[in-house]
Amino acid sequence: MSIIKGAIQDVANNTLAYTHGPTPVETLPSPADQVGHANPIQKQPTWGEIAPKLETAEVKIRVADLLSRYPVKQGALLEVLWVAQDAIGWLPHEAIRWAADICECSAPHAYGVSTFYTMYKHVPTGRFLLQFCHNISCHIRGAESIIDYARKTLNLKPGETTPDGLFTIVEVECLAACGNAPAMLVNDDYATDVENGELVMKPGICLTPERFDKILKWCYEREEKFPKEPPREVLGGMVKGHGGHPGAPGATAKPQDPTYAPPSPVLAVVALVDDNGATLTWKGAPEFTELTVEKNVNGSWTEVGKPGVKDKTFVDAAGKVGDEYRMIAVSGARTAKPSAVSKAKAAPPPEAPAAAQVAAKKV
Ligand code: FES
Repeated sequence: MSIIKGAIQDVANNTLAYTHGPTPVETLPSPADQVGHANPIQKQPTWGEIAPKLETAEVKIRVADLLSRYPVKQGALLEVLWVAQDAIGWLPHEAIRWAADICECSAPHAYGVSTFYTMYKHVPTGRFLLQFCHNISCHIRGAESIIDYARKTLNLKPGETTPDGLFTIVEVECLAACGNAPAMLVNDDYATDVENGELVMKPGICLTPERFDKILKWCYEREEKFPKEPPREVLGGMVKGHGGHPGAPGATAKPQDPTYAPPSPVLAVVALVDDNGATLTWKGAPEFTELTVEKNVNGSWTEVGKPGVKDKTFVDAAGKVGDEYRMIAVSGARTAKPSAVSKAKAAPPPEAPAAAQVAAKKV
């Protein structure tokens, strides 16, 4: 109880220092976040210790570029957190606070976001984080034996890091690479083999002990070639060379257009004809700023009127049974696609009060 109380107080105070005990996340680590098992209470560096890694010209340029892609700064939060993790190797609380300040949101909000996604690391790991899938497809195809092989080869338990700081093993849930089961990620790259000096995951090529050895060799060679991991594009290799999920290549590199979402069209347009002409009814949305009624006149859609956005009906005095109507809504600068076409029908005759009473009595 005291743990929960402390967490709530600290969230209310907009701070990230859980002085009353371990955070709920650290107390109850998810199965996928076994990195937390090895370090139930992670010692947090001070701002002074991490500032030299975040206050660099390179980080400033990357952050300025990210912020320029979103209409509001908070939109860049995931990517700014990513930049911090890329610079430090994991996400200490002070780095989360730094990202929150940049993105103009509260530190608890940024903390909640960072603990929701397993791609963010809340404890330091080895330079090469080996994430083995042990979900159903990989399990059926021998994930346990390949994980066992990796553990024995590196003399590690899941969640542990080798003394040289190079490798950490974790077991994770489905990596969306079931066609290559058993599959693995090395940091942010799918890896079931090495080809031409690159980690690859080709269709149908799964992880085997021999391929795992090749991948380890690749890691050792990389350590020699690049003493520090070069900066990664936002979202790392997850989008590199992939045509589909989690996004087409470059999907995150485009500025977002604030008007990109299409507005909702007018729904449920009905036209009923009586002595006054055709009366239209519809279902609108609160964001509509303009409405147009069109009628099919000799095969071409012709405007017959503009009801107010709060109106509930529109009458076309010349309307007759069989006429076709559609409505078009505008929301700010965006125009919705036309509603479904409604063919005018004869309105049912109004029920006489006396007849209605007789009918009600019969019931
Ligand atoms: S079950 Fe392992 S990648 Fe889907």
